[in-house]
Amino acid sequence: MNVLIIGAGYVGLSMGVVLAKSHVVTLVDIDESKVAMINRKESPIHERDMDDLLADAVSRNKIRAITPAEPFGRQNLVLICVGTPSMEDGSVDLSYVNKATDMVFERIEEILDDYCVIGIKSTVPPGTTRKFVSEKVARMGYMDKLGVVFNPEFLREGSAIADATNPDRIIIGASDYKASQVLKKLYQEVLGDAANNVIVISLESAELCKYVNNAFLATKISFANEIANITERVSGADIDEVMRAVGEDSRISPKFFGSGAGYGGSCFPKDVAGLISFAEKNLGIATHVLRAIQLVNSERPARIVNLLLEELPSLKGKKVSVLGLAFKPGTDDTRESPALKIIDLLHEHGAEVWAHDPLVHEMDLGNLAKKAQLTDNLEECLNNSAACVLVTEWEEYIQRGLAGLTELMQGNLLIDGRRVFTDAEIPESVSYRTIGQS
Ligand code: UGA
Repeated sequence: MNVLIIGAGYVGLSMGVVLAKSHVVTLVDIDESKVAMINRKESPIHERDMDDLLADAVSRNKIRAITPAEPFGRQNLVLICVGTPSMEDGSVDLSYVNKATDMVFERIEEILDDYCVIGIKSTVPPGTTRKFVSEKVARMGYMDKLGVVFNPEFLREGSAIADATNPDRIIIGASDYKASQVLKKLYQEVLGDAANNVIVISLESAELCKYVNNAFLATKISFANEIANITERVSGADIDEVMRAVGEDSRISPKFFGSGAGYGGSCFPKDVAGLISFAEKNLGIATHVLRAIQLVNSERPARIVNLLLEELPSLKGKKVSVLGLAFKPGTDDTRESPALKIIDLLHEHGAEVWAHDPLVHEMDLGNLAKKAQLTDNLEECLNNSAACVLVTEWEEYIQRGLAGLTELMQGNLLIDGRRVFTDAEIPESVSYRTIGQS
């Protein structure tokens, strides 16, 4: 199949290299430097297994990147994978989707052979695919020639390739049977048996699924974090013991019950806000549960800092080391990372903040550069500090162990914001505090 992917970001590129195992993929992006990088077999994003797959696909002429100025060629499928960022009020900015769909329809004669499916993969509010794609198809009178799908992605940053290769299920929102079959075939040719669990539903149900999926996972995290607040006050109770035992109920599952500094990244915060905005503004429906998820999550950085303040009530002029800036391990993405809010709070309390991250090397973090000193050298970050706060559970920190992390410090206080050392023996030389334990 010939597949045109609009937007060579993390979703477009990850899907592109996986689909290129069996199909011919053309990635379109307005960023010329990104296009050149991809064609040079260099991935613009940090993603496990990406470099090998990209190099292999480019060598086999199965993938290439172009700018919109270049010819698109005949395509069987167009997938729109452009960004849908949050606006100030939490609603979804659809301007990139709008531009991308307009471009596809302007150039439809160039793309269309006998039949072509136009699909959206970007996370968009229910009704968007119908409004931006189906209605245009109907206005053009091309219902026999153009199928329409919404096909959500469930790729985690850091394991996007593995998730794309081994999906739990493939959700296809489709205008009609023929369009859904094109998508089914697309995935079955690449993934074989791994594409057996295909769920075909309406466009709107599929659009909603993506929001509900992320909102439910965020709910589990906020729920676990709220229970962690409770276990902290129950002598003898431990949050991991509770959630592990509860998760063994097959109706519940232990996954995404990890309590800690809270969820970050570009997806959960954006999608919970997007669903709230859609329900409240578009439908006039109150969203009590979704708002509570946000509230619990927004309180996590302060809870971590409070643990520190309980041990060191004055941080004025004291060096405090923050370990981990990325919103989770395996990525250099700092969007909505709880570490940024923790740095903010430590700075407000007068601490001299130092920060380290194995992958984040630049302080391109707004005015945060004024609030913390970033170093690539973990020893320099820890040296002479009064306390350290572990925010992102990088393997490098876990490997060093409690004694290894605290030996260079002046003080001996380690705040474990991700509960990575809860099973470790605590050396007498270390003062250790974590969430979810009394
Ligand atoms: C998330 C979803 O997991 C993907 O399925 C989805 O496709 C993606 O959003 C998206 O919408 O594009 P991602 O944001 O990459 O993926 O990261 P996750 O691994 O889900 O973690 C999100 C946040 O939750 C991280 O800050 C992580 O530290 C936190 N988390 C996760 C917890 O605090 N506790 C947990 O038990 C699990």
